[in-house]
Amino acid sequence: MSANIVWHDQSLTKQEQRQKNGHHSAVFWFTGLSGSGKSTVANAVAKQLHKLGTKTYVLDGDNIRHGLNKDLGFSDEDRKENIRRIGEVAKLFVDSGQLVFTAFISPFQEDRETVRELLEADEFIEVYVSCPLDECETRDPKGLYKKARSGEIPEFTGISSPYEEPDTPELILETNRFSVEECVEQLIDFIKEKNWL
Ligand code: ADX
Repeated sequence: MSANIVWHDQSLTKQEQRQKNGHHSAVFWFTGLSGSGKSTVANAVAKQLHKLGTKTYVLDGDNIRHGLNKDLGFSDEDRKENIRRIGEVAKLFVDSGQLVFTAFISPFQEDRETVRELLEADEFIEVYVSCPLDECETRDPKGLYKKARSGEIPEFTGISSPYEEPDTPELILETNRFSVEECVEQLIDFIKEKNWL
């Protein structure tokens, strides 16, 4: 970081943004295997909350890797940098008073903790989108597990690259036991219980 860059406080504060929007702002950090349903549930929740009048935004793994993070691959180091950048972006959305849903595998506990530390205690909600590997592999919506098994894709999460389950996530959504609609309801109930809407 350059020594000649000075932090400039924003004149419009996070509190003012929240007040205007009429709700809390936070990051719901979805983590889980490819094919576990992170994007599907995140997008469905955001849509439902939008209908209820809240400001929401979804940051999605596959989309971000087409733009902001298109220079990154899937080595441990690149995944770390991927998550670091997303964490910073998510924080900006929280500052703007929105409810943010991120859908990245984010396989490493340490990287998820780094994002948690970037935010206030009530601004980072780790949501473990839990689904057994064999079920994700059966779903294989993008045909990537098949390619990973044949060796066509190296360092594939769950096959040839590790996935570290969260130790103490704030919420677990079991997509092999509940429908998308039920998972959405569980998440919205969580938000309502916190009085964040
Ligand atoms: S993360 O590990 O850095 O958090 P991210 O969520 O951004 O991953 O991207 C994962 C998506 O990239 C997967 O859903 C899948 O579509 C695609 N992908 C391509 N190669 C790999 C790989 N080697 N491991 C995991 N996902 C991959």
